[in-house]
Amino acid sequence: MKRISEINPLPLYYQLKELLREQIECGALKPNQPVPSERELGEKYNISRMTARHALSQLEAEGFVYRKQGKGTFVAEPKIRQGLLKLTSFTEDMQSKGMKPGAKVVDMDVLSEDEELESKLGASPGEQFVKIQRVRTADGKPMALETSFLRRKFCPGIEEMDLNNRSLYKILEEQYQIFFSRAEQTLEPKLADEYEAQILGVDKGKPMLLMERTTFLEDSSTAIEYVRSVYRGDRYKFYIELTRS
Ligand code: GLP
Repeated sequence: MKRISEINPLPLYYQLKELLREQIECGALKPNQPVPSERELGEKYNISRMTARHALSQLEAEGFVYRKQGKGTFVAEPKIRQGLLKLTSFTEDMQSKGMKPGAKVVDMDVLSEDEELESKLGASPGEQFVKIQRVRTADGKPMALETSFLRRKFCPGIEEMDLNNRSLYKILEEQYQIFFSRAEQTLEPKLADEYEAQILGVDKGKPMLLMERTTFLEDSSTAIEYVRSVYRGDRYKFYIELTRS
């Protein structure tokens, strides 16, 4: 058994946190299994309950464990490791990981006179946009809140369709012959606001990842969609391979 040592200059809670993290990452503690209680950890490693509590709350903040009120602390599912190089859809991403993609439309609207969207999408003054807000799920669990804005003249009538549990990119390809060729994307941290927290089933103030994407047609210069996706920070990590040439 690995020990926690007072001689080690690292704080005791940190040593315990790292030890539990290793056990989770190597699979010794499995997803949704209970983590030993503060009392058990205290006895096993000869530390105070306060120290054990501190270690568990750090692990929770980093998304390795979750708490159930009155039931204890459990190992979280491993995060989804999402590549950043390919222009893929949520549906394709989930299917490639063997998960079932889902979409629940929570808002749909037609907007115009929106200068911010006009400038983001290079649209003409007064052009109409279709706003589609969806909760994206994987195996039925909420993963992200996606708010897409499409230039309506390229996909008229899309606002009348039932987009629940359907792939937007597939609809754009099949019904409107819109084939995307490239996108510009940014990724930054944010904290869950009240609405995002409630709709995604997390606590307000939890870390999230905000991804903004502008997607272009095959001619490479006509932008069609602008999307703000708020991904759960406890369920996602983004991956990119770097080469040194
Ligand atoms: C990803 C992107 C979004 C895009 C969506 C389309 O989640 N971040 O910008 O709109 O995929 O996914 P789907 O075709 O599954 O609706």
